[in-house]
Amino acid sequence: MSKVTTARLLAMKQEQQKIAMITAYDATFAQVFEQAGVHAILIGDSLGMVLQGEKSTLKVTMEDMAYHTRCVANGCDKALVVADLPFMSYSTPEQACRNAATLMRAGAHMVKLEGGAWLAETVSQLTRQGVPVCGHLGLTPQSVHVFGGFKLQGRETEQAKQIKEHAHALVAAGIQLLVLECVPSHLAAAISAELRIPVIGIGAGPLTDGQVLVMQDALGLTTGYVPKFTKNFLAEHPSVKEAIAAYVADVTAGIFPGPEHSFN
Ligand code: KIV
Repeated sequence: MSKVTTARLLAMKQEQQKIAMITAYDATFAQVFEQAGVHAILIGDSLGMVLQGEKSTLKVTMEDMAYHTRCVANGCDKALVVADLPFMSYSTPEQACRNAATLMRAGAHMVKLEGGAWLAETVSQLTRQGVPVCGHLGLTPQSVHVFGGFKLQGRETEQAKQIKEHAHALVAAGIQLLVLECVPSHLAAAISAELRIPVIGIGAGPLTDGQVLVMQDALGLTTGYVPKFTKNFLAEHPSVKEAIAAYVADVTAGIFPGPEHSFN
């Protein structure tokens, strides 16, 4: 695999090649995932839940994100490294720029932030100053208490319209990638078709430009509640590398996610 850049992701969308993304939090997994063929690795603030055992992502700090970004970046050579700006670390454009600089210095190639049109000025300042930005709409876990739980977003017509409008506003502001989480498949399909940038889905059906999974979900390391949109790829493969290679192959072929992993 040659080096994955933002330009390459855009070309993949234009050539209708699907993008496979997964989370990682350390160098060993990042290296194995890259060898398995993933195009992009996300240091998600999901680490608050899957590494730290918290009930939400809200307690994750900039120190946590910078540490894990450095670990992942040290394991990566070719994959695009995307790091989450954690809860309340981008409340103003100035704060976002300061914290994005920390993540870029730790080795990220792009930062991700959760929210809509109200972040337009932040996105354009980051982009102007050399920081590529990934948006995140739909179920944005940092707003779990506003939503009243981890719930599907965009089922009502008005809410779906708002998510679309936010997606367009973020693209106009300069985002180069968008994650859509837990929205009905038809809404994700429409947004992916309308936007010129790649859209990565998680619980957003099969018709986005790519997929992302939390690595623990892709490897069946979930205890208790297993989200509908996940699949344990390790169940059918003898090693972590082969399991993730199967994930990449299934995403690339449009086999994963299937209807059983999607919402209407
Ligand atoms: O934090 C994370 O891992 C994420 C993914 C679920 C998209 O934002």
